[in-house]
Amino acid sequence: MVATVHRTKTSAEIPDMSETHRHGAAGRDALRIGRIPVALFVVAAIFFALGLCALPIVVPYAADFFYQPIVLASVHTFTLLWITAAIMGVMYGYVPALTRTPIRWPRIAWAQVALFTVGAAGMVAHFALGAWVGLWLAAIAVVASILMFAANILPCLWRGLGRGVAETGMFMSICLFIAAATVGTVLGIDKTYNFLGGDVLTNLSAHVHLAALGWVALSICAVSYRMLPAFILPSTKLPRSALWQLYALAAIAIALAVSLLLDPGFAIALAVAAGGAMLWWVAIVARMMATRRMPLNWTPRHALAGIIAMIAAVALGVALAAVGGGSAWGARIAPAYGAAGLLGFFSNFIIGMSYQLFPGFVTRARQNRGWPPVTIAEISSARPRGLVFVIFNAGVVLMVAGFLAGALILTQLGAALAALGGVIYGATALWTLSFALRRAIPRAARESSLRVLPS
Ligand code: HEM
Repeated sequence: MVATVHRTKTSAEIPDMSETHRHGAAGRDALRIGRIPVALFVVAAIFFALGLCALPIVVPYAADFFYQPIVLASVHTFTLLWITAAIMGVMYGYVPALTRTPIRWPRIAWAQVALFTVGAAGMVAHFALGAWVGLWLAAIAVVASILMFAANILPCLWRGLGRGVAETGMFMSICLFIAAATVGTVLGIDKTYNFLGGDVLTNLSAHVHLAALGWVALSICAVSYRMLPAFILPSTKLPRSALWQLYALAAIAIALAVSLLLDPGFAIALAVAAGGAMLWWVAIVARMMATRRMPLNWTPRHALAGIIAMIAAVALGVALAAVGGGSAWGARIAPAYGAAGLLGFFSNFIIGMSYQLFPGFVTRARQNRGWPPVTIAEISSARPRGLVFVIFNAGVVLMVAGFLAGALILTQLGAALAALGGVIYGATALWTLSFALRRAIPRAARESSLRVLPS
């Protein structure tokens, strides 16, 4: 017999449930997006593992010179199909609950997810083929899907703009994502019609920094300001400076992009300022965490690894701005900078957060469908987490060192290790997420006679 015992809900479950009580039918509408975050997390986990498996083939090209078709394909597998898919999933899952506003068009959200996935995969394929017309046609589809995403999420965030820290940060990051994607699409169209002036590498750098700082880093800062109090530090108050840190980061991302497009003379100073804004975020988060003794599980460990990688990426980014991407040293620093930023910083954060978020979203999606309940522990595969942490991070460190030293064998060894970590991570993440797509409960749950179930 199964004993059903009420337990304290996780913070991942609380917001949507309160939504139902507060808004009745509207609250249920908000719940209808229940499996959209899961769909995006499935896309993210699959492409993270696939992207890492392709890395041992890609790194010799990147070590040779970062600006080539297969490297562009690899970069956008991570930036769009892994990082962006995960961030969109988090925003779909949290923004309606955080702002107590249901998203306006839940059905459009499904079309958006499909268009985004097909469009981004199309971009990756056309980058790899070096087929620019196909690339920018796919990019137009992705931009359309980002506008659909914005049409659903921005109205929820609008009321909190300038007041709520996380709301303001996410609002700005979505706007900067639209800008970055538009600049990227224009750069693609320019390959066919050749209408842009300026230097290819500085134009490209404007797009990269708008996307990496304005979209990804700003989203991570904003979401972390929401997640830290929610998951780890329940009674800690967010300092007002958090809002100013977000404004500073957004302003610097815009200024850096404009400077790279119009007058690269200011780029070094702005790269240093961008590093300062990121370190400001670290200081705010560190001060908040210093007020509490936290359990050191794999989420904060990945966050810590991410922060260390971020500091390395800041140093490499400033060095790159100083020597220029076209120089011999620039060609070594650029791929190291990309690996430290995309894999070391962004990916560590997403992996760490996913251990908290994925099971929470799955239990909620099952509740919404009236399926037999499962506990977070039953659908979390905790055992491989240590292995993933060590293998993945050792791989990233070797890759960065190998690029900088010009030692290809080291870089390839690192890529192979990161790929192994990615496959183990992807398999366990998909196993967890699969319980939002099937009614079955995990074997451990079937065999256990004393279970603590979600209420
Ligand atoms: C719809 C979204 C996007 C589109 C249409 C797009 C398009 C492009 C295009 C066309 C290029 C090549 C530009 C050129 O050759 O002049 C490029 C390069 C690049 N993009 Fe994107 N991009 C998008 C999103 C992103 C995001 C979200 C990121 C990072 C967070 C990113 C990072 C990069 C990087 C690092 C490169 C340079 C890679 C290299 O040189 O090897 N992109 N992008």
